[in-house]
Amino acid sequence: ANDRLDEDAPHWRSHVGSILLSEAMINARVSELGRQISADYSRIAPEFVIIGILTGSFIFLADLVRKITHPVRIYFARAKSYAGTHSTGSVWLHDFDLLDVRDKHVLVVEDIVDTGKTLKAIHEELGRRGALSVHFCAFISKQTERKDEGVPEVRYVGFVCPDRFVVGYGLDCDERFRQLPFVGIYRP
Ligand code: XMP
Ligand code: MG
Repeated sequence: ANDRLDEDAPHWRSHVGSILLSEAMINARVSELGRQISADYSRIAPEFVIIGILTGSFIFLADLVRKITHPVRIYFARAKSYAGTHSTGSVWLHDFDLLDVRDKHVLVVEDIVDTGKTLKAIHEELGRRGALSVHFCAFISKQTERKDEGVPEVRYVGFVCPDRFVVGYGLDCDERFRQLPFVGIYRP
């Protein structure tokens, strides 16, 4: 009887209100972004560097780089600013000392941009480390007023979403729901 119940109600049902981005929508958009990024970077350098920001970008990045046809070196680094569903206001960066970005064209791949504090901190850090150019690609850009000064522009945006907490396709609530192949609005 228990097996039957599990089948009827998927494990995420009680925590995902509505589905915002379906698998098909995501696939189509990620392919477009891959084409656009390939075209842009093939014009400026024989090779470029992607830095995936862990953990949230891991699924987006895995799909995106398979649609990129230009040579690229891929690194990962960590950034954390959220606890649960709220921004803590301070950004913690880790593993940026392991990156070889000096004189390189760098594309930072993020899961989602909210206040832009994380982007700003990453931008400053990569500047200090001597990157030749730094641009940003975000799977989702939230429709929030970016109040901070000096927040860099996101050149490649997958989707613009309302200011709600979302999960799935790498996005989490305390490390849960990253595995969902779609994006849904989180329901506490
Ligand atoms: P800021 O405010 O620095 O926030 O632009 C960016 C980081 O905050 C996390 N974040 C979310 N994570 N669902 C998530 O799973 C959300 O709706 C959400 N909003 C912000 C995320 O880690 C992002 O890198
Ligand atoms: Mg997160």
